[in-house]
This record gives sequence, structure tokens and C-alpha cells, in this order.
Amino acid sequence: MPALYAVTDNFITLIEHEPRILKYFKGVDIAEFRRHFAIQLCMETGGPCEYTGRTMQDAHAMMNITEADFNLTVELLIKAGEQAGLATSEINYLLMKLATMRKDMLYK
Ligand code: HEM
Repeated sequence: MPALYAVTDNFITLIEHEPRILKYFKGVDIAEFRRHFAIQLCMETGGPCEYTGRTMQDAHAMMNITEADFNLTVELLIKAGEQAGLATSEINYLLMKLATMRKDMLYK
């Protein structure tokens, strides 16, 4: 969990410095996002956490996230993983797990 929270915190900081992604987060409760994001990473990589946030479809509804912005967000997540000291294989594993959710987030 400490590593996943490190990835999440780096990810949040990178988003704060990227206006193209930051604009989606206007009015969002960041503490809640942080908790849900880290727990989701934990669950997707084998648990034992139990994710209690919204579905990816519900959480990203009405945002109309573009493909380009989705790809940029993934780049930030990769950078966040590198900054947290994750191995390339660990980052790739994480991306593989998250890739299946892509269709639930785009253009909703
Ligand atoms: C790698 C893909 C992504 C994953 C795994 C992911 C995961 C999550 C999770 C777990 C939450 C919390 C849901 C909740 O609290 O119930 C969330 C919320 C959010 N995500 Fe994503 N997300 C991804 C991509 C994106 C992208 C590409 C954007 C925008 C460019 C985005 C913008 C947001 C915003 C603004 C919220 C807060 C929604 C709210 O609280 O109303 N996400 N995401």
C-alpha cells in the first residue's frame, strides 16, 4: 500500500501541473479521489483491498474525456510509477490491468 499511495500522490502532483488534465478535476474531492485511486490500484493488482468507489463508467460520466487526454493521463501515471521507484515490469503490469477499463472512460 505505501508504494501504491506513493504512485497516487505523484500522479496527483503531476495532474496539478498539467492544465489539460487538471481542468477535469475542478470541484473534485481530492482526498476521496486519492483513497479510491490507491485502493483501486491495489485491487487491480491482486488485492486484498476492496474498492468501494464508483464504477469507472459512473466516475467518468459526463466528462467527455478525449482519447488524447486519456493517453496523456496514462503517461502521467507511468511517470508517477517511475518516480515511486516501480520497475518497468510492475508499471506494465498495472497498465495492462487498467487498459481493459479504457472503453468505460472515453467520450462518456
Ligand atoms: C488510467 C485510467 C484511469 C483510472 C484507473 C481512473 C480511476 C479513477 C478512480 C478510481 C476514481 C475515483 C472514483 C470515485 O471516487 O468513486 C476516478 C475519478 C476521477 N477520474 Fe479517473 N481514472 C482514469 C483515467 C482518467 C482520465 C483520463 C481522466 C481525465 C482526463 C480522469 C478524471 C477523473 C476525475 C475528474 C475524477 C473525479 C470524479 C469525481 O469525483 O466526480 N480519470 N478515476
